[in-house]
Order: sequence, then structure tokens, then C-alpha cells
Amino acid sequence: RRRDRVERLLARMTLAEKIGQLRLANTAEDTEAALRTTGCGGVFSVVGAAQLNALQQQALQTRLAIPLIVGLDVIHGYTTNFPIPLGQAASWDPEVAASDARTSAAEARRSGITWTYAPMMDVSHEPRWGRIAEGNGEDPYLTTRFAVAKTKAYQGADLARPDTLAACAKHYVGYGQPEGGRDYNTVDVSIQRLHNTYLPPFRACVEAGIATVMASFNTISGVPAHANAYTIREVLKQRYGFDGFVVSDYTGIQELIPHGIAGNGTDAAREGIRAGVDMEMTSTNYVEHARDLLRTGAISQREIDDAVRRILTVKDDLGLFDNPFVDPAGETVSVSAQARAAARTAAARSLVLLRNENGVLPLSKGRTVAVVGPLGTATYDLNGTWSGLGTGASTTEPTTVLDAIKAISGGSVTYTPGCAVDDTDTSGIDAAVAAARAADVCVLVLGETAAMSGEAAARSDIGLPGVQQQLADRVGAAQPHTVAVLLNGRPLTLTQLAAAVPAILEAFAPGLEGGNAIADALFGITNPGGKLPVSFPRSVGQVPIYYNHENTGRPYDPDNKYTSKYLDLPDGPLYEFGFGLSYTSFEVSGVRFSSDTLPRRHGRVTVAATVRNTGARAGDEVVQLYLHDPVASIVQPVRRLRGFERVTLAPGEQRTVRFTLTREDVGFYDDQARFIVEPGQVEVYVGTSSDQATKAGVLTVR
Ligand code: IFM
Repeated sequence: RRRDRVERLLARMTLAEKIGQLRLANTAEDTEAALRTTGCGGVFSVVGAAQLNALQQQALQTRLAIPLIVGLDVIHGYTTNFPIPLGQAASWDPEVAASDARTSAAEARRSGITWTYAPMMDVSHEPRWGRIAEGNGEDPYLTTRFAVAKTKAYQGADLARPDTLAACAKHYVGYGQPEGGRDYNTVDVSIQRLHNTYLPPFRACVEAGIATVMASFNTISGVPAHANAYTIREVLKQRYGFDGFVVSDYTGIQELIPHGIAGNGTDAAREGIRAGVDMEMTSTNYVEHARDLLRTGAISQREIDDAVRRILTVKDDLGLFDNPFVDPAGETVSVSAQARAAARTAAARSLVLLRNENGVLPLSKGRTVAVVGPLGTATYDLNGTWSGLGTGASTTEPTTVLDAIKAISGGSVTYTPGCAVDDTDTSGIDAAVAAARAADVCVLVLGETAAMSGEAAARSDIGLPGVQQQLADRVGAAQPHTVAVLLNGRPLTLTQLAAAVPAILEAFAPGLEGGNAIADALFGITNPGGKLPVSFPRSVGQVPIYYNHENTGRPYDPDNKYTSKYLDLPDGPLYEFGFGLSYTSFEVSGVRFSSDTLPRRHGRVTVAATVRNTGARAGDEVVQLYLHDPVASIVQPVRRLRGFERVTLAPGEQRTVRFTLTREDVGFYDDQARFIVEPGQVEVYVGTSSDQATKAGVLTVR
């Protein structure tokens, strides 16, 4: 029935009305003007139920009464901010992402939003790149599991329901690998890397029914993503069968001109439409030039109709033709108790304990605490990039780490900032050192502001900004019971910090309930169980550094100079992918296979392992399964994550975790973009991080 409606509508539309649907405006004024003139498919970055209802009213007054799709960057919360996606990925629990998406969808939809520009699924080996904060780190499998969980949770079973949002897989594709880590920069990527590393999350989200995809700002081996007929038409639409619509990223169509692919707006519109970008965000080349392009035969009526059909179908799926309005009385303007509780659980599960010498953590209650560091009283910076965009969000401030500690420490708590996040003034350090020395323990809250990661926020040096390292060195020397809590949107180089303090708790930007979740973990009310979704290098000079690298012909050997290494650094990152400590200890043992052979047809093998809490506290462990194909026609990664499970165990408790391996898990894309499964042996590793996974057996692939 629904598809009939779209076809009937399409048959009645004039060319102008069709072209109007390809436009996405970004202010209420532009939308109103477009609805009066060129027509308009949607609006974004406008919030407020009353205002959105008024725009929908105007849209319904156009000849064919076509409603607007209403977009917003609901990245990790609408009113209730959850941890940034990189932090969520550190939970190694896709349910964390799903709970964010369910909460955000309900809050945003009640407020008139129908479409979110999330999940972001750009695999990245680039910690200098600020947008690493918005993704799930360096691994395609972990990213895929999170992206699919989030997509399904945003969209629910039926997009017409009042608690769902159309999701958007972004940024398509390769955006996570800009040269030098500089945003918007060139991406040159091999076909096999494109298909094995960057495309898998997109493919999986298409299979999960994602409604839309956003093109990326970068070039892909010389062709801008917005003009890339190979990635959009051939791979996404034909090969994957994507039937939703593709939107440009902001002025991405216009940017084909400075990229040097288009000489003017007409060229830019032609390249975008030919490549398969269906809707143009912000810039207006489609509405200005599509008619002429059709007249000259540079684009076809089929291309226009296809784009319009895709856009109308998503609107229809959203139920907008039946009712595009929301009840202003139901608009989300505050945080519900349920949303707050979900944000607290998410923040708690995202924390990663990187260092804990001599059991400094957890802290005992009733002692004097010196909170030191420029982020001890952070509010907005706890939320991180892309936060506070929904109605009510800006008025809902997170509890600071300082206040959260005060609430539960049971002893006196002082606060001394010591320095700013990012300037050269060291005059406050003496006072901070004195405060730390005078207390029983010191909690140093350090890191980056929210604005230091996210879009257009690349850093060439990924150490602690400003003079924070000096502060840590001095405070750590004065107070042996010093614990560093880090707020940051990217991996940082922590070699010097680890030398200065005995404990480090990585919190990323943990969101609305982050301060409380941090205090809970510091005092042992909860036990950190997150794991790094991305490698933390020893030095920025190691970048790109990622666990699933290829072997060279001269793999690292400390005793042989002529192997792949740096003269001035030990091998590997400081903290590896999958790493994270706990207040308790675990043992993984008894790995067993249901069969040692993966048969040719419909093959599957189950790998089971026993994980046991061998310590004295309840805690979480993430059991991780990696594969390595030692001899293949394309050089293979040294490890490849293909399974993980986070479990909570009481002291002494044990559990069996099971992973199912199929041919999909052991195959790979070759240099012609063909998925192949090569007969031979595949090694299976099981353990608690990418470095601490040991060889559990060998699988024979038929
Ligand atoms: O969704 C974003 C995108 O990630 C970056 N450019 C702007 C878009 C819309 O705000």
C-alpha cells in the first residue's frame, strides 16, 4: 500500500516538484523560502516542536502536500547525553549503544525530529583526527557490531512508530583515514582495504535496513566520495541493494568545485546526481541546475525519479504522509529518571582502567581527597562533541567529577585546578601540589575539552594539552596516592603520565551521568570493565598504529636491527586494542572447538571458553576471539577480531562463552573486491586483549 502511494505521487509530480524534494535546507527561513519557490525535501538543525509543526503545516499546503523529513545530529543523545560513541565502544557492549539509540529516538521523535545523522561508522587508525570521537575505533568488526545495534535501536521494528528515527550510516566512505589526520583531507585507499576495513559496517547496516547513508567529505583514491559512482552506485546501491536514500554531507556537492572535479555548480550537480547522491544538504546546486542538466541529457529522468522515489519512500516509511506533526505538550525538554539511569549505566560500562599500581584504586571512603586538574569542575566537557543539540539539552548539566566525589567520599574534599586545559600558565601548579600533599589521596582530572575533538578538531600532538603534564608530574611526585581521570575524545599518548601516577582511569567524554559514574568507579561502588576500542600509542610518531596491521617481510625482532621498528621506541602501543584492567582478576581457560574443520557448505564451528573470576570482587571481563590466516593470497592482518562477549562474574564464579565462526569470518575481499574463502589453516586466538589472546587452536577451512 505504501509503495503504491509513492508511485502514485511520483506520477503526479511536476519536474520542479521532483527536484524540490532533492533539497535539504538547514534553517527555518530557508525552508520556508524553499517551500514557496523551489520546493524542499527536508530541513535539519532546527529544533522545537512548535516551529517544526509550523514548517510541516507549510509543507502540507504545497500542491501535493508532501511533508518534510526533519534531520538532526542526534549523535549520542538528544536531551540526555550518553558517552561519546568512542566511549560507548569502550564498553564492548553493543547494548550500551542500543540504549543510547532507543532513548535518543524517543526523545527526539517526540520533539518533531524524524531522522538522525547517526550512527557514524568510520573505522579509524588516526588518533590525530578529531572525529575518531564519533566512531567506534580502529576495528571493523567491533564497529560493525555497534553500528548494527545502534541502527536497529534507532529504527525499531517500524519507522512509523513515535519512538523511532530514520538512521543514517555515515560517512560513506573512508573518512576515518585522512592523510595526516587532518579533517576533510585526502584518502588514498586500496580496493582490499576499502572492502575489508572501511565498508563492512556500511554493508551490515544496509542488511539491517538502514534508511539513509551520508557521503563523506574526503576523496577516495582521487575521486571525491560525493562524485564516486563506484562506491555509491555500484557498491552501495547495486551490490548491497541499498534502497534508502543517500544525502550529501553539508556542502559536499558544492565542494566538488574546490576539489577540482567540477568547474561550476552545474558540473557539481551532474557529478553528484550521476554518482547517486540523492539529496543535497545546505548548498543548492541540484535545485538550480538539475532542470538544465536534464534538458542537455547530462543526467536522465530515471536518475531524478530514482532519487525522488527513495526520498519519498523513507518519508512514507516514517508515516509522515499520515501525520507529520507532534504534540507540543509531549516535547522532550527534560531528562526522565529512566533516561538518566540508562546514561549512568552506559557511562559506567564505558570506563577503562588503564593503570592501577599497588591497588591505589579503589579509594577508601572517609579519607581526605584533593581533586586537582582543570577538568574537575567540567560540565559541558563531560558531554563531549555533538552534545546539547536537542530541546532542553543545554539546560541539563552533568554533575561534575568534583561534586560527584563530594557526594560519596565521606571525607573532606578540596578542589584546586592547577592549570587551564590548554595554556602555558604554570602559576597555579604550586597550590595544586600543596593541596595534593595535604590530602590522603589526589584525583587529577585531566584531558581535552569537548571542542578539542569532533569535526574540524585535528591535533598534531596527542599528548595532554597545555601544561597538564607538568601538573601531573609535580602532583604525582608529591602525592604517591594519585589517580588520574582522563576526559578526552581520542587516544592520547600517556607514556609520561603513566610514569608520573600509579593509576589512570580513562573516561573519554562520559556524558550527563559521567561524573557520577567516575566517582562510583573511583570508590569501588562499580568496577571498571571497559576495554580500549583503539590503540593508545606511546608517541604520535607511531601513528598510524593499530592491532590488526599486516605483517611485513621483516616482522619486529628486538635482536635484529633490520626489522620493522623505531630506533627510539619499544614495539607496539602503550595500551593495546582490547586492553583494560579491573579491580578483580580473571582467567580464561579450556578453549574447545565443536570441530577442527570448517566445511565447504553452510559451515560453522563453535569455539567455547571458560572465564573465571579469580579475584575477590565482582567484575566484568570481555573475552575476545581473534583469527589469523598465516598463508593467503592477500597479506592478512596479524590478528582479526571476530567475536567478543562481556560477562559479569561474582568472585569465584565462572561462565562459558561461545563464539560461532562461519565462512564469512574466515574469508576476505581480494584486490578485485571479490569475497573469497581460501582453503587452508586459520589460527584461532582467545583472550582478554589483542596482545593477551593466546593461540587456542587451528581451524582447517575446506
Ligand atoms: O551530520 C553532519 C556531518 O557529520 C558533518 N557535517 C555536517 C553534518 C550535518 O550537521
